[in-house]
Amino acid sequence: MLLEVKDIHVHYGKIEALKGISVEVNEGEIVTLIGANGAGKTTTLKTISGLRPLSSGSITFDGNDISKMPGHQRVVAGLGQAPEGRGVFPGMTVQDNLLMGAYTRSGDFSADLDEVYELFPRLLERRTQMGGTMSGGEQQMLAIGRALMAKPKLLLLDEPSMGLAPLIVQQIFSIIEEINRRGTTVLLVEQNAQQALKLAHRAYVLETGQVVKSAPADELLNDPAVQAAYLGGGAAHDLVEEAAGAPGSASVPEEPA
Ligand SMILES: Nc1ncnc2c1ncn2[C@@H]1O[C@H](COP(=O)(O)OP(=O)(O)OP(=O)(O)O)[C@@H](O)[C@H]1O
Ligand SMILES: [Mg+2]
Repeated sequence: MLLEVKDIHVHYGKIEALKGISVEVNEGEIVTLIGANGAGKTTTLKTISGLRPLSSGSITFDGNDISKMPGHQRVVAGLGQAPEGRGVFPGMTVQDNLLMGAYTRSGDFSADLDEVYELFPRLLERRTQMGGTMSGGEQQMLAIGRALMAKPKLLLLDEPSMGLAPLIVQQIFSIIEEINRRGTTVLLVEQNAQQALKLAHRAYVLETGQVVKSAPADELLNDPAVQAAYLGGGAAHDLVEEAAGAPGSASVPEEPA
């Protein structure tokens, strides 16, 4: 197992945003976290990358307990992140943004740059353009490319499809698939549940700081309760109740409480 998140609790002040989340990612997988606004997806990723402290629980990565490791050391250990909202350096060229991604490493990065440019031909065309003047989709490509420059074992992606046109979303998702095919494990957070479930091997459904379901992605794609709540399949159905209550009753929505 590459990543084991075990029963983590995370607070913002007195508010408990994560109430005992457990997530596992095996080497070679694409795992996705789906769930509504405020469910705790971004907080989970930030806690894994070291931007939020744990109140309790543990995170093991590549055989080591990283629960208390500072964020920059987690990057060196092989955790790469393209943050929500992208975080491109606006006043730096595309190429310099990419080179910033390799700041934890030493040596010659030309082969890595070549690989990123091969995955994202648009970035090659625009390599001397300022990051801040790139379009939304291009900045997302740049954020992913920069994360890849650190040669991560696990790539954490927070809503790579956010705000992008369907055609660009399609492109980004197929590049994520290619990145995975070339050997990088991926933990993907998405509100675009349909697309994420088609791409991923396994998925976790988060609701109000808890995991309410985990299963192979294709199973969740065909799960009536998941369809109703996250795939535009009708009235929302509370998965918390289902997780706590009678198993196997998911296909018959109950009256709202
Ligand atoms: N900096 C913060 N200060 C206080 N509360 C926060 C902060 N960041 C997040 N929260 C709260 O923590 C909870 C989880 O937020 P989080 O950003 O992890 O959700 P999310 O699943 O990523 O949602 P979205 O799909 O909207 O991005 C929410 O209730 C949110 O209001
Ligand atoms: Mg979020």
